[in-house]
This record gives sequence, C-alpha cells and structure tokens, in this order.
Amino acid sequence: MAPGTEEPARVVADDPVTAAASAAATAPRPPDGGEPGALRAALTADDVPPAAQDPVDPPIAAAAATAVRVLGGGLRGSLEPPRETRLLAVANQKGGVGKTTTVVNIAAALALHGLHVLVLDVDPQGNASTALSIDHHADVPSVYDVLIEGRPLAEVVQPVEGIPGLLCAPATIDLAGAEIELVSVVARESRLQRAVAAYAKERAARGEPRLDFVLIDCPPSLGLLTVNALVAAHEVLVPIQCEYYALEGLGQLWRNIDLIKQHLNPELHVSTMLLTMYDGRTRLAAQVADEVREHFPTLVLKTAVPRSVRVSEAPSYGQTVMTYDPASSGALSYLEVARELAGRPASR
Ligand SMILES: Nc1ncnc2c1ncn2[C@@H]1O[C@H](COP(=O)(O)OP(=O)(O)O)[C@@H](O)[C@H]1O
Ligand SMILES: [Mg+2]
Repeated sequence: MAPGTEEPARVVADDPVTAAASAAATAPRPPDGGEPGALRAALTADDVPPAAQDPVDPPIAAAAATAVRVLGGGLRGSLEPPRETRLLAVANQKGGVGKTTTVVNIAAALALHGLHVLVLDVDPQGNASTALSIDHHADVPSVYDVLIEGRPLAEVVQPVEGIPGLLCAPATIDLAGAEIELVSVVARESRLQRAVAAYAKERAARGEPRLDFVLIDCPPSLGLLTVNALVAAHEVLVPIQCEYYALEGLGQLWRNIDLIKQHLNPELHVSTMLLTMYDGRTRLAAQVADEVREHFPTLVLKTAVPRSVRVSEAPSYGQTVMTYDPASSGALSYLEVARELAGRPASR
C-alpha cells in the first residue's frame, strides 16, 4: 500500500493527549484546501476598487489590489488590540513543522493590522531573524546577551524594515551555547520572563505604545531555551504539520507545559493549535487534519495554512510571505490565522 493513499493517518496519542482527546466534543470540518475564503471576501468586498472585483479582470489586477491594500496600510485599525499584552510561545519539539514560518507571518500580519508586535528569536538557528531581515551576525547584541549577560531587551530589539510596529530581538549563533551556560546561571528558567517584564515597564516609562503581542520562536527541543520561552509566555501555540506522526511526541511537550505550569508559571496553557503545510490534494493531509481536530476541537484554528511555494521562498529574500507576495494563498491564510488568533480569548 503506497503511503498517503489508503492507510489512515497515524496520529499517535500520548497520555495527556489522549486525556484531551477524551474531552473532545464535535470536531469542526477542516477547511476545503485551506482557502481563506472569508478573508478573500473581506479583502475584496468594500475596500478594493470595483474594477478589481470584476471577474473578467485579469487575476493580476486583483492580486495587485490586494497587495496595495495589505502593504499600503489598508488593514490598519481593523483588528481590536487585546486588553493586555498577549505572550505566545510557538513550540513543538519537532523541527520543520512550521514554527518559525508561523511566528514571522503571524507577527507581520498582526503588525500590518496596526498592532505592536515583538518577535523573540530564541532558536540558535536564527531563522526568524533571517526571515525578518534582522542583522544577526556574531557581534550583534542578541537574545543570548539578554539570557546570559542580563542585558536589557531594549538594547537588543531592532525594528523590522518595511513593517511598522514590528520589532525583533534576534538570535545569534552564540545562543547555541546558552543551553549549557544557562545551567549555572541564577534563576535560569525565568531569565527571559524577567527581561520581557522589564522591557514592558521601560516602554511604558518612555511613553512608547504597549506591546499587543509577543511571539516567541522556540528551538526544536525541550531544553532550557524552550523552558525560558514557556516561563515568559502565557499561551502556547503549537503548529502541527499535516503529515504522518503529526502528534507523536506531543505528550512530552504537554508534560513539560504541565510541570512549568505547576512550578514556575501558573498562567501557562496551550491556547492554540495550527495546521501547517496542508496539502488539499492528498487524502493524508485531510485525514491528519480531521484527527487533530477531533482530538482538540477547541484548540485548532479553523484556518489551515496550505503548503505553498511562496511561503517557503520568502525567507530567502529576507521577507515574510506577507510582504513577499501578499496576495498568495499562503499570505492570505496567515492573515486569516492572525485575525482568528486575535479574535479568540487569551485565556481558556
Ligand atoms: N505553508 C508552507 N508551505 C510551504 N513550505 C513551508 C510552509 N511552512 C513552512 N514551510 C517550509 O518548511 C520548512 C520548515 O519550516 P519552519 O517554519 O522553519 O519550521 P520549524 O521552525 O518548526 O523548524 C521551511 O523550509 C519552510 O520554508
Ligand atoms: Mg524554526
């Protein structure tokens, strides 16, 4: 039997995951091919010139109109800022599931709506810094200095060019050593939390706008860097790649979250799961999406992010897909994801 054709998707459930599954009620249907229809409708309804809505117009005209609207500030003010700063760690100890892609694109989408957003790159690979075109060679002050040297976050944060309201604290390669160096540092689990709290106070004292969202890009491990992210956050967003073994190993993440909740950060909870790299042409993706939604009916966002070449091309241009190709299906779905996320309550 060829993989991806007949065999049902294997979604492995570890204990806490099974427990969550038993609480499952009715599972909403997955979106058809991840097409963000509602957003597309919203983008073309009243804000795009009538000519662009004419079905005989070449698609390029509609795409250009969408690009002008997204990049030209047309989305500003259309999302309600949260009552308090929302701090989300984007975590999954598997590599390649879309954590970084999700962080940078949600962050860009929220900022394009006029919100104030900070990305903390806590992965030594520095992929989020690359995608946001943030300088992160070895001499640049980075999250490493914040965690190990206690350097204020304000000295590390850089504005993202071309996206007003978006800031990024970069990761440099030094961060690879931080996992070990942190072991002997005082309050090793809460270094990031303290830095973020101090930064928020400093911004207020300087009369700068309050941050609406802080998104933390975690490395693919459950070591001290991820622990720092989970102690600093209130919410966890878990990207799930629509592939075999989608949920395998998640039990370990759930157990770590429980431990951190018990001992270090009572507020922490998984608030959101996002299906990534959804390929509407395969039965496998639909089966995995169905199963994940069945297990976690309240956590999984309605919007799934489709597998899209534009999404994977964007980082090599130092861009998010939001700016690289705002009218592409990947960009539209991340816009929709950002809106859905912003519209959901932060707490359970
Ligand atoms: N929706 C998508 N469509 C196509 N490629 C994607 C998509 N999301 C992520 N990718 C690609 O998959 C790879 C892994 O994604 P990434 O966000 O770096 O995962 P992680 O941070 O979990 O390791 C990257 O090469 C990225 O460009
Ligand atoms: Mg990554």
